[in-house]
Amino acid sequence: MLVNMSECVRDASQGQWIVPGFNVFGYEDALAVINAAEKFNAPVILMSNSDAVEHMDLNSSSALFHSLAESTDVPVVIHLDHAKTFELILRAIKAGYTSVMYDGSALPLEENIKNTQHVLELTREKNISVEAELGSVPYTDRNEDVKSIMTVPEDARRFTDEVPVHALAVAVGSLHRMQTKAARINFDLLAEVKKCTNVPLVIHGTSGIVDKDVKKLLSTNVGKMNIGTALRMAFGETLRREVLAKPDEFDRVKLFRNPMTAVQAAAEEKYRLLGWVER
Ligand code: G3H
Ligand code: ZN
Repeated sequence: MLVNMSECVRDASQGQWIVPGFNVFGYEDALAVINAAEKFNAPVILMSNSDAVEHMDLNSSSALFHSLAESTDVPVVIHLDHAKTFELILRAIKAGYTSVMYDGSALPLEENIKNTQHVLELTREKNISVEAELGSVPYTDRNEDVKSIMTVPEDARRFTDEVPVHALAVAVGSLHRMQTKAARINFDLLAEVKKCTNVPLVIHGTSGIVDKDVKKLLSTNVGKMNIGTALRMAFGETLRREVLAKPDEFDRVKLFRNPMTAVQAAAEEKYRLLGWVER
């Protein structure tokens, strides 16, 4: 069932559970995370990041995700992750994405507000949800030149008063692309942000957050958590093992079987951690 993310993320921000946004790159991982969502009767957000957009054009990924969404009863959001240009957002809207993130985190506050307002205008009357970012979640990847700027609570008040986005990504201690769980959330800062806005919050870089802190986030107004690296590691590491263990195998559908199972298992583990119970 195809949806945008406003309702499921708003419900999740009331406490008890959080909706995962998974970075996916094609049929194999998109199907694996939908299979995981079905086990929990939970919504799932399929997210295309810039690497995904470079790999597969938005019309192709949208057609693929639409077809998968139409064949399941769980709510499926098709979301553009970390878009930094209006041009990319317009392409996603045209391709049929139901949700977009405008990432103005590197811009001065006024410019981030102005640009995000423009994105709201572009999506108005199209039933497309909009996520923005305030503060800046850094990358552990040296190729990504993104500063770490913690979210200023009073900025969150001004931002969401002026731009009524459906979800707001905040920088409260997590880092993108960590391969081990070592990041700690600044819960005092998160509580200050909560006092300033009713908009559901989003945490990026979930792969690197310690489990204890993820569990603690369930009782905050965080409604969505983005997960990428943990699933890419599950796929890539299993595929490497497969290739090395079966030197005569060249059929990719066979080589992909165990990596798909591994991605589904990793996604299921995240659903459990995010408060969902198997049906
Ligand atoms: O927007 C995507 C995410 O924030 C994913 O972060 O790869 O560190 O889990 P991660
Ligand atoms: Zn992110």
